[in-house]
Amino acid sequence: MLALRLAPTRPRSLSVCVLCATLASPLFAQAPAALPSSAHTPTGLQLSDSTLTLRVDALRSDVLRVRLYPNNHPAEDASWAVLPASRTASIAVTPEPAGFSTADLRVAVAPDLRLTISDLAGHVLQSDALPISWTPQGFTVTKTKSDVDHFFGLGDKPGPLDRAGEAFTMWNSDSFGFQESTDPIYKSIPFFLEMHDSRTLGILLDNTYRTFFDFGRKNTAQYTFSAPAGPLDYYILYGPEPKHVIETYAWLTGPTPLPPLWSLGYQQSRYSYTPRSEVEDVAAHLRRDKIPADGIWLDIDYQYKYRPFTVDPVTFPDFPGLIHNLAAQHFHAILIADLHIADAPNQNYPAYDSGVATDQFVKQNGKTYVGDVWPGPSVFPDFTRATTRTWFASLYKDFVNDGAAGFWDDMNEPAVFTYPSKTMPDDVVHRISGEEAEGFAPRLAFHTEIHNIYGMENSRATQEGLLTLQPNLRPFVLTRATYAGGQRYAATWTGDNLATWNHLRMTTPQLLNLGLSGFSLSGADVGGFGGSPSPDLLTRWLMLAAFQPIDRDHAAKGTRPHEPWADGPEQETIRRHYIEERYRLLPYLYTTAEETSRNGIPIIRPLFLEAPHATADDHPLDNDAPGEFFFGPSLLVAASPLPDDVAPYEVHLPPGVWYDYWTGARLDRRETLISRDLELRNPTATGKSQLPPLMVHPALGDLPVYVHAGAIIPMQPLVQSTEEKPNGPLTLRVYAPADTSTPCTGDLYTDDGATFDFRHGAYLRLHLTCTISVDGALTLNIPAREGDFHPWWTQFRIEAIGFTPHTAQASTNGHTTPLDHTDVGYAVTVPDTGRPQTIVLH
Ligand code: GLC
Repeated sequence: MLALRLAPTRPRSLSVCVLCATLASPLFAQAPAALPSSAHTPTGLQLSDSTLTLRVDALRSDVLRVRLYPNNHPAEDASWAVLPASRTASIAVTPEPAGFSTADLRVAVAPDLRLTISDLAGHVLQSDALPISWTPQGFTVTKTKSDVDHFFGLGDKPGPLDRAGEAFTMWNSDSFGFQESTDPIYKSIPFFLEMHDSRTLGILLDNTYRTFFDFGRKNTAQYTFSAPAGPLDYYILYGPEPKHVIETYAWLTGPTPLPPLWSLGYQQSRYSYTPRSEVEDVAAHLRRDKIPADGIWLDIDYQYKYRPFTVDPVTFPDFPGLIHNLAAQHFHAILIADLHIADAPNQNYPAYDSGVATDQFVKQNGKTYVGDVWPGPSVFPDFTRATTRTWFASLYKDFVNDGAAGFWDDMNEPAVFTYPSKTMPDDVVHRISGEEAEGFAPRLAFHTEIHNIYGMENSRATQEGLLTLQPNLRPFVLTRATYAGGQRYAATWTGDNLATWNHLRMTTPQLLNLGLSGFSLSGADVGGFGGSPSPDLLTRWLMLAAFQPIDRDHAAKGTRPHEPWADGPEQETIRRHYIEERYRLLPYLYTTAEETSRNGIPIIRPLFLEAPHATADDHPLDNDAPGEFFFGPSLLVAASPLPDDVAPYEVHLPPGVWYDYWTGARLDRRETLISRDLELRNPTATGKSQLPPLMVHPALGDLPVYVHAGAIIPMQPLVQSTEEKPNGPLTLRVYAPADTSTPCTGDLYTDDGATFDFRHGAYLRLHLTCTISVDGALTLNIPAREGDFHPWWTQFRIEAIGFTPHTAQASTNGHTTPLDHTDVGYAVTVPDTGRPQTIVLH
């Protein structure tokens, strides 16, 4: 029998540290006293006062783990979020009188256990403003904050990208129609970046209870993170560049895996297409109107009485036949399969019967807990048990055999309609089965501890199920609730947004912060879930979503039609054009998704990730340009910061030469021009470009997109689905570097788009480079192929943008070919010999 321990590491009845109160002066932070030699450990330090022990370990030279616990009561060394190999990594440190140093960081600790972290040049990166407060009500860590500190991350929380001045709670919550001020919402990702003076740190507070973050709302000179219970266990990730912090977070919690290619295509959904004939009509309409699309999503009405893992035989006869017919038209069927199982004894409901027979559901007061969701009274799988995940995984078997391509894990906060809290009560009991990887001992745990990871473990069970059933197919799972590290198991979306202009605006900071929090594959319901979008709103939304990682049009019951054709041919033409552009850009998008799967850098990126030093005073350029973001490494999408405003708006580009993606026009943004205003604010701000913004005034149908000079973008001929073989060459758009010394690079990755064969060499990777010579010749170098995958193309079409030809000829392998003049530049088509090539455009 497992023992029930409430909040195993909950701060016990400890009086607030007496020593701390007397020593809490800034003096100690500045001049920490020498530590007793017993405080030094090979990997860091361990120091106690009368009641508490602080332990700091260097996992790498740029990663620290900080733990605080009552003397002689260390918390479990365990985590749902952090990968076991990273959690247990360590390096030898160099002891110093007040702490220790690594090759990157210096750690000093005061007798009151306050920490100061500096770089080796002596810049203080982070310091505890107060001793940690540790009381029966919980703990609070208080750090010093300056007025130029910026904070990013924390997952899907609405509001501005920069979280400075705001406060947040982590508690996964079903939040239909959330607004910017709504908190908490669906996810709990207690990871954030702190950036100041162009130095960035990342912090993961690995505590699954309700946690709180205050980035200077209560006190502008401090930021805090706190919890009423659970371990005080946090990781500090050092940059100084923000990209490095994101890469390190992927090392710590795992990157978003490479998704199946079809999941990057356009997805059509609605709550609900029913009956079966409506699904078939939508599919036929997409193909008839030549709207490229890859996924059709089936919401809860395909089920019998809303019971997960069933099909309504009346409205959806011959379900396998439907999936088969969709597949024949190159559509992938994605099925919702919520975690709640209808409480339906003796009704021949296999998910319920098998779950009860094998004791898979969570309990309250010794009895199976029952709460109301879509099917009415429902029971809830105990996902923190490995055996329950295996049982749940087995429920997918029939749907997988029917040919379903992906699964949608909704309502997994878990949503329960019975109470105002909209979730299950705190005293519901979960069982932790205690697997080696996570490090938890087998034990019982109250819902307060498990709530925030429940959705993540649901999506883990789904992914594990699909991997068991189809070991060589990349699974696709979409989850609504999750926790740090959940990106290993599923993509995500922002839940029940609304069909308003403000919600369209909110998608950008939400998806950017999700990307910074590990979730590269994310989307927001296109058109807005609740309410009906105006025709122009739907059009603008479909335009923007063409440049977001997941492009899924979805709508609530009772709302007007949302499909691209819904508002007549003029709107449909614009919408189609953008979806088509996404399909042309698929080689670039897929290459970017593959990059994410290696290093965690998200598909869409705030400007500061690619251009961290774009402003004279090193504030993130994003704060001036809230509608802008990078789609992959090279395309900058500049949507309006106020999309319903018809007035012109400012576009802020990082310094350099840029090209208009649509026209190829060149914009030189290199001039150093310190505006008078800036000079007044920051007299030392010289030498960095701070050009006045561009003013743009796009018509409906125009979304400004820019490409930086020296980018090479792979593109393909238009297809109607990712299963269609593109007809023609692979295009390499080469955006001429600004001058002979500007780097010019681009990547191309491809594989079969579906299996794991890439792990055994069945992929193709090219790292392309180009140069421009003094006399203006543009040279593209195609190196030797990495990997042995044979791609669909046999030719490359090289399109040069921003290049002025002299002879209008290209030479390669001793052959000379005339250049074509295109809408955006000059082009030449050459065979892909599979061998290295150099192509020179004169
Ligand atoms: C939830 C989901 C929504 C879905 C609906 C019905 O509200 O967030 O996307 O359509 O449930 O399943």
